[in-house]
Amino acid sequence: MANYTEAVNEHYGRENLGDRIFAALEAAGLDLDNLEIDDLAPIEQFHIGGRDATIRMAEYAGVQPGTRVLDVGCGRGDLAARLLERTVPIAGFVGIDAMPEMVEAAAKRDLPGCRFIAGDAIANPDLLGTGKPDYTCISGTLNTMDDRTAQKLVADAFAAASGGIVFNFLSSRPHARFAGRTVAPARRRDPVLWLDFALGLSSRVAFTQAYLDGHDATILIQHDQQ
Ligand SMILES: C[S@@+](CC[C@H](N)C(=O)[O-])C[C@H]1O[C@@H](n2cnc3c(N)ncnc32)[C@H](O)[C@@H]1O
Repeated sequence: MANYTEAVNEHYGRENLGDRIFAALEAAGLDLDNLEIDDLAPIEQFHIGGRDATIRMAEYAGVQPGTRVLDVGCGRGDLAARLLERTVPIAGFVGIDAMPEMVEAAAKRDLPGCRFIAGDAIANPDLLGTGKPDYTCISGTLNTMDDRTAQKLVADAFAAASGGIVFNFLSSRPHARFAGRTVAPARRRDPVLWLDFALGLSSRVAFTQAYLDGHDATILIQHDQQ
């Protein structure tokens, strides 16, 4: 996986990519505050349709007062910003991203109680223990990985988090209207296989794709209580 950071940078690392995508959507006449998931299908690899999924995912984990959160593939720190906007009482937030530009942009937001680190969580799984996370969130980050790589990342992150892990991915069982639409270079994953994988890690597993009409799916895995 030595070239993974390079590959990630090549995939996501165009200058001001996010701003340019939003500018293009605006130029196409779309209301950025009221985007529909269908508007975003052509650019799904950037997980813009997952902005709501990201915050929903963190809420699904039931972040409690004092929770330490690790965000793997944090991008520009949107999850941290939205948790703070909603005054979710996190004790500490660490975001990791393989793209230094993303980390720089996140750090510039000066979000209280949050720090952002550049690093490849696949090449350096030790990073997954940074800040001794209670919960680790992985939103949109698995989208371009093969299943084996994604499952190793999820298993390593789960082992390093005391409470558990919550992650999302593009479901291969969405509403029929998504049939035949490409999400490349992202990929859809079989939620049943992933649920089976999750149940191999713990008995305390929750699954939902009851949002975005099954376009996206979320799995929460908590450590078994002794
Ligand atoms: C689709 S973006 C999602 C950003 C954010 N989590 C969100 O939901 O808006 C995926 C992010 O994961 C990062 N990423 C992908 N593979 C990574 C890895 N192995 N280690 C750290 N970050 C990674 C990318 O650089 C990119 O910023």
